Amino acid sequence: MHRQECEKTKRLETELLLEAIFRRYGYDFRHYARASLARRLDMQLRRQKLAHISELIPVLLHDQAAFDLFLLDMSITVTDMFRNPHFFQELREKVIPKLKTWPYVKIWCAGCATGEEVYSLAILLQEEKFYDRCQIYATDYNNRSLAIARDGIYGLDKIKNYTANYNKTGARGSFADYYHAKYDGAKMNEGLKRNIVFSHHNLATDSVFGEMNLILCRNVLIYFDQDLQNRVLDLYAESLCAGGFLCLGAKESLQFSSVADTFDPVSRKNNIYRKNYARTEGVLG
Ligand SMILES: C[S@@+](CC[C@H](N)C(=O)[O-])C[C@H]1O[C@@H](n2cnc3c(N)ncnc32)[C@H](O)[C@@H]1O
Repeated sequence: MHRQECEKTKRLETELLLEAIFRRYGYDFRHYARASLARRLDMQLRRQKLAHISELIPVLLHDQAAFDLFLLDMSITVTDMFRNPHFFQELREKVIPKLKTWPYVKIWCAGCATGEEVYSLAILLQEEKFYDRCQIYATDYNNRSLAIARDGIYGLDKIKNYTANYNKTGARGSFADYYHAKYDGAKMNEGLKRNIVFSHHNLATDSVFGEMNLILCRNVLIYFDQDLQNRVLDLYAESLCAGGFLCLGAKESLQFSSVADTFDPVSRKNNIYRKNYARTEGVLG
């Protein structure tokens, strides 16, 4: 087949597969970015020893175990404690002092993967003597990742890197204060979990569940196409109170998005934004 024809057929097969998955299981990957989606589907073809994407349709529709594995492959869980330490430093210096002006603060950490980002945030809030006035909702659509997040046990081999990251955030203590060694893992202190609720939430299909003062959604939107990015950013704009903060990842910005006018930049380097008060009375703190 001519290369262009081949690409067209592959696109059609992909659309049929994603439509079938949505209608059978309710998981909506129809607006995931095409390049990374293609890599995931190639992985599936190799795993199932199949030649064409359309052959995946009966496999994934009829075999729940195969679908569960597909779901795991679709969820890229790469994460780190204090990932991009400079972001956490700016959170500490530019965002937390403003959050402290509210009596009680709700935080949504969307796409939290295995929880490292959430524990990093909890440590920061505790060091800033503010954690007891915070409630964190940590969500992801990958239940296996959420189970790891709830356990809060990470490989000891990663601790050196996590400590180095922590030390770059304007740290007020020692990272060793926040975990203890258990077998070959580092278990995060139970106290850090006291204000965290881990729960299933799918950004492609679920809606807003409360008014937030801060939303973190880092390294998630890159996997979505522009339509889905706009859907998710609309959710965040709706969920945040006036003056609330939105933190995106290093490669993700509000530029060209449907909500660009709703936010003012706080840090261009780390893509931190603040929802403006355009239609709300009040003075920024
Ligand atoms: C690369 S990780 C980012 C983890 C963390 N935020 C960080 O920056 O280190 C991307 C996460 O987004 C989650 N994700 C992808 N699509 C999602 C969706 N539709 N709804 C909720 N979470 C999703 C994946 O399961 C994965 O855990």
